[in-house]
Amino acid sequence: MDRYAVIGHPVAHSRSPQIHTLFAEATRQDMCYERIGPELDQFEVAVTQFMAEGGKGLNVTLPFKERAFALADVQSARARAAGAANTLTFYKGEIFADNTDGVGLVRDIVQNQHFTLAHRSILLLGAGGAARGVIQLLLAEGPIRLIIANRTAGRALTVLSELRASGVVSEDLLAHCQACGLESISAEHFDVVINATSSSLSGGSTPGVPAEVFGPETLAYDMVYGKGLTPFLALARTHGALLLSDGLGMLVEQAAESFYLWRNVFPHTAPVLQQLRVELLE
Ligand code: ATR
Repeated sequence: MDRYAVIGHPVAHSRSPQIHTLFAEATRQDMCYERIGPELDQFEVAVTQFMAEGGKGLNVTLPFKERAFALADVQSARARAAGAANTLTFYKGEIFADNTDGVGLVRDIVQNQHFTLAHRSILLLGAGGAARGVIQLLLAEGPIRLIIANRTAGRALTVLSELRASGVVSEDLLAHCQACGLESISAEHFDVVINATSSSLSGGSTPGVPAEVFGPETLAYDMVYGKGLTPFLALARTHGALLLSDGLGMLVEQAAESFYLWRNVFPHTAPVLQQLRVELLE
């Protein structure tokens, strides 16, 4: 039986084992999926050991995504654009790194929610790992503009310059992308506003954005998910946004892409998403 796992610190809360087990059952794959939670200084040792034991692949979660990228022998363009990896595949003694977060987000928006991103204006809040993981894939959809806005403006500017330096995204697409501080966001409607900050996880206040960024046709998307509306989605609704989405669909879609990379079969995501949604509300 092929072995996979999610590695993180902490890792107990991860839903990946459940999601991948459901995918494996539905597609009749002979595999098992575990959790690995090494001490912070033991990540590389734990990966190498899992590989030596015959493990086939790992999902990587906080805070190891950058180290997973650095550890790999080969890195996909998606991983290079993000500077981080959430999926490792072991093959003939080598480690292949990929990042499926961006495609997970885009599939959730475009396929699950039938919301096209081409020719749209997108405001992306945050410049940490969560934001960096999705910028390339958002730009590939051809938005009219993508503004990366962060509390610390310099970090947003660095993210953009590092993406340019990676050479993964063409100058034509980068011409639609700008970076700024939260205070410099212009007071006008965006078609999509994505929260990629960790404000609700760290218990901080929601990122301060002008109320005008939300219109009735704006899709407000929070990469975080929870039982009720997240603080960011509650704010968006207060300011008039009617299309609200949390990040549960992104979670399932990024997992499906990892599963596909490993097993070469793409699982149906809708039933899994529905099951997780029901469990979240219980
Ligand atoms: P992650 O990998 O989850 O993105 P991170 O690298 O620590 O985590 O980044 C956290 C992001 O959330 C950053 O963009 C951070 O802004 P700063 O770069 O200015 O620190 C943002 N963030 C966290 N709490 C926030 C808050 N209360 N308001 C606005 N932005 C916040």
